[in-house]
Amino acid sequence: MDTPRPADPCVLVIFGGTGDLTRRKLLPALLNLAEEGLLPERFAVLGVSSHDQSDEAYREEMRRALREHATPPTDTAACEDLVRRLHHLSGDLQETATYRELAARLAVLDAAHETGGNALLYLAVPPSLFVSTLKRLGKVGLLAERDGWRRVVIEKPFGRDYPSAVALNAAIREVLAETQVYRIDHYLGKETVQNLLVFRFANGIFEPIWNRRYVDHVQITVAEELGVERRGRYYEEAGALRDMVPNHLFQLLSITAMEPPISFEADAVSDEKVKILKAVPPLAPEAVLHCAVRGQYGPGEIDGKPVAGYRQEPDVAPGSPTPTFVALKLGIDNWRWAGVPFYLRTGKRLPRRVTEIAIEFKRAPFELFRGTSVERLRANLLVVRIQPDEGIALRFGAKVPGPEVRLGNVEMEFCYSDYFGTEPATGYETLLYDCMTGDRTLFQRADMVEVAWSILTPVLDVWEALPPRDFPDYPAGSWGPPEADELMARDGRHWRMWEPKA
Ligand code: BG6
Repeated sequence: MDTPRPADPCVLVIFGGTGDLTRRKLLPALLNLAEEGLLPERFAVLGVSSHDQSDEAYREEMRRALREHATPPTDTAACEDLVRRLHHLSGDLQETATYRELAARLAVLDAAHETGGNALLYLAVPPSLFVSTLKRLGKVGLLAERDGWRRVVIEKPFGRDYPSAVALNAAIREVLAETQVYRIDHYLGKETVQNLLVFRFANGIFEPIWNRRYVDHVQITVAEELGVERRGRYYEEAGALRDMVPNHLFQLLSITAMEPPISFEADAVSDEKVKILKAVPPLAPEAVLHCAVRGQYGPGEIDGKPVAGYRQEPDVAPGSPTPTFVALKLGIDNWRWAGVPFYLRTGKRLPRRVTEIAIEFKRAPFELFRGTSVERLRANLLVVRIQPDEGIALRFGAKVPGPEVRLGNVEMEFCYSDYFGTEPATGYETLLYDCMTGDRTLFQRADMVEVAWSILTPVLDVWEALPPRDFPDYPAGSWGPPEADELMARDGRHWRMWEPKA
C-alpha cells in the first residue's frame, strides 16, 4: 500500500482558537496526523480568539486540552513539536484592525515556517459571524491567491432554510471561488461512511441488487444517548432537523443511493450526490403531516440513571417547541429507486448510540415452504454500521438443524476492528488532511447544501405554522414518540430494534 505523503506546507489559522471544537477535535486530530507523519514539516497554527494571551500561555492551554482530549500519549516528541508550532492572536472579529494584524502575523509566520503563502483559514465560530468574517478577510486581501493557496473551512450550519442557504452561498461567492471553500460535514470523515463508497463500487456483487427490484426499503438511523449537553442556546435555534438532517443524514442517504460516479474526483462524486437529492420530491404540506414526525424528550432514564427533560436543560426555554427527534419518510424519483421508501430518524436521549444504514430486501416467495413449519420468512437485511462497532452485517435465513424444516435467522458479520484494528481518530483527521492537500471530495458543494434545504424547508414551514401541542412526547431513554412507529406501521413495516444493552 502507498504511504500517504505529508500535507502541503501551510499556516492553519483557526478563528475560535480557544473554543470547544479546537480543543476537543481539531488539536487532537492534528496530533493524530503528526503521529502518523502526515503533517508537513513546514507548518504552523495561529489560533485567533478574544482572549488576551501570549503564545506561551496559549501553548500551555492547548497542551492541557490535548492531555484531556487526545487519544495518543501527549508526552511524545510529536506532541511537543505540534505545541511549539502554536501561536495566538488576540482580537475582536468584528474589528477590521484584527484582520490587519492577522495579515501581518500571517506574513511573519509564513516567512518563518516557509509555508509558501499557503493558508488554511478555519471558521470555528458561531454562524452569525461567518459572513462578516469572510467579508473582512476579503477586504484586507487575505483570501486572494497570490503566491500560495488560500482555503476556507466552514462548519455547519450552512443556513437555516433554503433562502438563508442561498444568501450564505452568494455571500461566500463574493469573496471566494467555490474551489477555495471546504464545507465540513464530520460524518464524511468517518471511516465507515467512506467505506460505503468502496463497499458499493469496488464489489461487483452488490450493485446488481442495489435497486427497486430487490430493495424493499432503506432505514437510516442516527440515534444518540446524549442530550443537548451545554449547547442549549445553539440547539434552541437549530433543533433536530436542522442540526442533523440536511447534513449528516442526507450525506448518508446520498452515498447509499447515488449512481456510480465517473471517477473519485470531487466534482464527479458531488454531481452524483446532488442528483440523488434533486430526485427527492419535497413533501407537500399535507404530506408533511404524514411523512414527517417530530418529538421532544421529557425526563426519563438512560442506563438506569435519571436524566432531565429537554425543557429542563440549561439555556432551554421552559415551554420550548424545539424538536429533539425527527423521523421522515422520503422517496427518490429515479429509475433505480422509484417506489422504495427511505425512512430517516435521528434523536437525542434515545436508549443507545447507534448510527446505521439498514437495507431491507424484498422477501423470497413463500411457496416452497408452504406446508412446513416455516411461518414467517424474514427478509434479508444488509446493515452498514457507522458507529459504534463499525462494520457490515448480512442477515439471512438458515435451516435450524433437525429433521423438521425450521428456519432461523442468522447474521454474517464483518467488524472493522477485527480486520484493521482501531486507529485513534476524531473524524477530523482525514478532513483536515484533505483541506491541506486540496482534495474536496469529502466536502459539501454549494448546490448540495441548497438542494438539501429545498427538500426540508416545506417541513420547517409546516412545523412553524403548527406549533407542537404535545411536547415533551417521549421520555428520555425511549425510541421517540409513538408517531414514529406509526409512520412505519402504516406501511406494514417497523423500525429496527436492538436488544437492551447488557
Ligand atoms: C453534530 C451535531 O453535528 O453531530 C450534534 O451538532 C451531534 O448535535 C453530533 O451530537 C453527532 O456526531 P457523532 O459523530 O457523535 O455522531
